[in-house]
Amino acid sequence: MSNPYDIAYARSIEDPEGFWGEAAQAVRWTRKWSKVLDSSNAPFYRWFVGGELNTCFNAIDRHVEEGRAGQLALVYDSPVTGQVRKFTYRELQDVVARTAGVLAAHGVGKGDRVILYMPMVPEAAIGMLACARLGAVHSVVFGGFAANELAVRIDDAKPKIIMSASCGIEVNRVIPYKGLLDGAIDLAKHKPSACIVLQRPQAKAELRAGRDFDWAEEVAKAKPAACVPVQATDPLYILYTSGTSGQPKGVVRDNGGHCVALKWTMKAIYDMDPGEVYWAASDVGWVVGHSYIVYAPLFHGCTSVLYEGKPVGTPDAGAYWRVIAEHGVKALFTAPTAFRAIKREDPNADLVKKYDLSRFKILFLAGERTDPDTLAWAEKALRKPVIDHWWQTESGFPMAANCMGLHRFPVKPGSPTKPVPGWKIDVLDNNRNIVKPGTIGSICCKLPLPPGTLPTLWNADERYKETYLAEFPGYYKTADAGYKDEDGYISIMARTDDIINVAGHRLSTGAMEEVLASHADVAECAVIGVADALKGQVPLGFLVFKAGVKRGPEDVVREVVQLVRDKIGPVAAFKSATVVNRLPKTRSGKILRGTMQKIADGESYKIPATIDDPAILDEIASALAKLGYAKENKRQA
Ligand code: COA
Ligand code: AMP
Repeated sequence: MSNPYDIAYARSIEDPEGFWGEAAQAVRWTRKWSKVLDSSNAPFYRWFVGGELNTCFNAIDRHVEEGRAGQLALVYDSPVTGQVRKFTYRELQDVVARTAGVLAAHGVGKGDRVILYMPMVPEAAIGMLACARLGAVHSVVFGGFAANELAVRIDDAKPKIIMSASCGIEVNRVIPYKGLLDGAIDLAKHKPSACIVLQRPQAKAELRAGRDFDWAEEVAKAKPAACVPVQATDPLYILYTSGTSGQPKGVVRDNGGHCVALKWTMKAIYDMDPGEVYWAASDVGWVVGHSYIVYAPLFHGCTSVLYEGKPVGTPDAGAYWRVIAEHGVKALFTAPTAFRAIKREDPNADLVKKYDLSRFKILFLAGERTDPDTLAWAEKALRKPVIDHWWQTESGFPMAANCMGLHRFPVKPGSPTKPVPGWKIDVLDNNRNIVKPGTIGSICCKLPLPPGTLPTLWNADERYKETYLAEFPGYYKTADAGYKDEDGYISIMARTDDIINVAGHRLSTGAMEEVLASHADVAECAVIGVADALKGQVPLGFLVFKAGVKRGPEDVVREVVQLVRDKIGPVAAFKSATVVNRLPKTRSGKILRGTMQKIADGESYKIPATIDDPAILDEIASALAKLGYAKENKRQA
């Protein structure tokens, strides 16, 4: 054992309480924990039991007290509005305290839920931190979701208040939010008592008297609220993520474990020091945005960049380099799809040369596998380390990474390197045996999971156990399939459930199928993820008409495409479907989605032994060929 990673990793597995107890010294507590890890109610593990702290204090106030009051905490860079706004730690403290005062004046206190349905503006982060200040539980809903998805989350989280904005901006398109918000509240059974709406000049919203309040006016008259200490085990937020049905799962994050783990990752994984500038080019609606736009960089006393723009088109494929150069970014974290978009527009990376990237040190990629081509292109364009790392909404921070602050291992293209300290990762077969190196299986993490991971699902302890813990006793099932090699490097190859990854966004094909099935002319349907050069995967629908339907397939396809956009949202990127006579199924009636996907992607496949009628696969192949897929038929004997 010779390097700091090996030492840290071994200790985290052999003595997790010692390891995390030490990491917890870097957090400011109002009362020290009595027990680092409480396993008395396993499999519901709890970290830092008896400890009390405030997450917002650790993100902001402590830095003001400790000499960073004048340092930038947050830089908002918005090419879509032409604005850059900067907040020092003191300024952020002031506006967050007053925003917390607004919430308190509307009756929000410890444990109350607040939903945020926000575009990428500083107020989104400010709203989250204001909730944390009061010990309230925030639940951020990504702006690309439709009213129906917002309504489902309102009914599950039952928020006292919703914070929103009048509009979002997508490149050159203004998206009014108010109709979506009103629509969601109308659809939901639970009604919030008030909505605090940020008026943006690009599209003002009409406010409903008595229910809606103007964000800026409210903040202007609010009294600053103090940080409220909460139990380490109290929930900080709920973040809904795709499950295998239309009912999303509310991933819960606690206050104590989250603060300890995230602060620790900033040096260990990202090699960041306090005072340096960190940029996660994601959205606050995703876990990456929660952990690495808002919380971790602030816990660590860094400056965080919040970017309202795209990698291309705002205005060009040099946008990322401009932001890095202008704000002195040391580490950028984004999804490989962003780099594929940049590569498509600027294949020779000519725009990189226009900017001074001397302060930029490392690129981190996650959200989907970094394909070797994208890795090679990014390394050549930037001449900096490019680090793939693997994680999930549930984990809250990376499960596998090249931990740049501990030890830099050689990069193996296609692999996010090794398990992060705290994660004991095994690859298991269907009989729950650990497989040999190089063999693909289910990637599982030994319980207890490290601090900062999901302690349960919101109001759904049984679903938590059933979804994650039941199949492989003693383990958390990641629902990713992959393998470990002889050197302990992990490779993530596919999901084992119906989740697909579209432009780094996690989507459920099951949820899309529920929408397609609701169309009056559709008897049966299937949605699969097919390979896409830009987005990694895109969804593709197959429809079987009800008997007697005489309508043209094009009309129905157009209607179901619109239906998915209306019910799930534009983020689903559901743009194409085809009508077939039958779907390939096993004799027990299970649709063979995996085989359909292999045909679409031109991968080799065998006719499953359990198939009901193999001839259907030919029909599927020819339907796919008409759509430009299934370029090669690699059927094996
Ligand atoms: N509010 C409203 N609509 C949104 C939205 C939001 N916050 N985010 C995305 N959408 C819309 C898009 O405008 C698009 O609409 P369209 O069908 O009318 O064109 C649709 O949802 C699909 O969005 P997306 O899949 O992101 O595709 P895109 O073509 O707009 O952009 C990329 C493609 C690659 C440039 C973009 O996905 C990207 O920057 N990704 C990398 C970073 C990232 O966000 N990673 C996620 C987690 S780390
Ligand atoms: P999300 O919960 O939205 O963060 O999505 C998590 C899923 O994205 C994981 O379960 C993986 O399937 C996929 N994913 C995230 N990061 C990576 C990565 N570096 N390599 C491969 N897949 C990844």
